[in-house]
Amino acid sequence: MGYKILCFGIFCVLFAYYIYIPIPENIEERWRVRMIDAVVKTTSLVATLFEEIGLMKYEDTFLTLSLVHLSKPVSDENVTVIDTNFSDVPVRLYLPEKKSEILRPAIIYLHGGAFVLGSCKMQSYDDLNRWTANKLDAVVVGIDYRLAPQYPFPAALEDCVLVVKFLLQDKILEKYGVDPARICISGDSSGATLAAAATQLLQNYPEYKEKIKAQALLYPGLQFIDRSMPSHQDNEHGPIMSVEMGVKFVILYLNGNSALKEAILRNEHMPEGSRHLFKFVNWSDFLPDKYKKNHIYTEPVLGKLKASYPALLDSRLSPLLASDSQLQSLPLTYILTCEHDIVRDDGFIYVARLRNVGVQVTHDHIEDGVHGAITLTTLPYNLHLGLRIRDKYINWLEKKL
Ligand SMILES: *[C@@H]1O[C@H](CO)[C@@H](O)[C@H](O)[C@H]1NC(C)=O
Ligand SMILES: *[C@@H]1O[C@H](CO)[C@@H](O)[C@H](O)[C@H]1NC(C)=O
Ligand SMILES: *[C@@H]1O[C@H](CO)[C@@H](O)[C@H](O)[C@H]1NC(C)=O
Repeated sequence: MGYKILCFGIFCVLFAYYIYIPIPENIEERWRVRMIDAVVKTTSLVATLFEEIGLMKYEDTFLTLSLVHLSKPVSDENVTVIDTNFSDVPVRLYLPEKKSEILRPAIIYLHGGAFVLGSCKMQSYDDLNRWTANKLDAVVVGIDYRLAPQYPFPAALEDCVLVVKFLLQDKILEKYGVDPARICISGDSSGATLAAAATQLLQNYPEYKEKIKAQALLYPGLQFIDRSMPSHQDNEHGPIMSVEMGVKFVILYLNGNSALKEAILRNEHMPEGSRHLFKFVNWSDFLPDKYKKNHIYTEPVLGKLKASYPALLDSRLSPLLASDSQLQSLPLTYILTCEHDIVRDDGFIYVARLRNVGVQVTHDHIEDGVHGAITLTTLPYNLHLGLRIRDKYINWLEKKL
């Protein structure tokens, strides 16, 4: 009891401190964003303290909080909701009730959470997927892929690819009344990283490739090789997602240690001989002038890190490392970026590179946007921004899928 009161006390003091951190002027719901930012920063610090004193791991504090409100598979008058497994990977299906004369589109949705947190059963994702099924009269598949650190790279991606392949079988499409010409892979944040990587991988299989009509990426992180993009520098301390927090989670996915973390923070984590990869993410070639501002491109320092992490060279981790000829065959693409977001420039660069090779891309940029808004639409946050993002994404699907 005394220990819980102490924790609560620490939390309140930190929260009171963080709530006064300035937030960019142009954000519509400034006080809400400020509150969420303070909650995240306080949680991060408490999580660090807990880890230091050996109480629980950094990520477990977040995990405990993120999984408090897991929803049950509740069907309603419009949508039947079922928890099941596709190829042994847990999925939640949303199947429209209404009889349909024609086959339906399908959306495979990959939740965010920095590869470490989250579930398609979180209330915000359940709301989003149900809404999508209802609004588009579509079959929606949420995937509970395996999470790091227990299951590091590329476990999450393997699960997502398995589920897509399972769904794309003719007999399964038939079973759920899905139109094989109208299937989209979508995701937000790290879920969008996985969506982009899965879409790239499936281009190698003619039988699956032609069935993926579109990919939709909401504030995706698309590369982990250059940590000093203008968007990293402009949003170093958030709001909501700071560079340090992002790096802490990514090293869990990479099965890395604190030496890797420190190297990434100094942008000295890439090995000797990887210079040729930087042309794929060279922001000075791909970003609009508006975001280059007064930033000066500096090349990362190579070969400083002793340990080797092959994943850092892998386009399954960083979809931006795919070559132009690999990007060429990608399907119709939707990318949404947010202004105040460390991964903003990843999205801009992917838009530019895909357009350069002739892929049809719709790009929505939210000037007052912050990272993670889609998951902040439920109580106690009620961030309206998340609903604006949802509506833009759904509008695109409605028109293009
Ligand atoms: C079912 O769909 C109708 C028509 O779109 C809508 O008005 C109603 O709110 C939906 N019900 C639920 C529980 O979402
Ligand atoms: C799905 O698979 C998991 C193990 O991978 C198992 O525990 C669970 O019971 C399965 N669920 C269903 C609905 O088959
Ligand atoms: C990045 O682009 C700048 C400007 O175009 C160029 O000077 C630099 O050599 C490039 N660096 C790499 C590693 O491609």
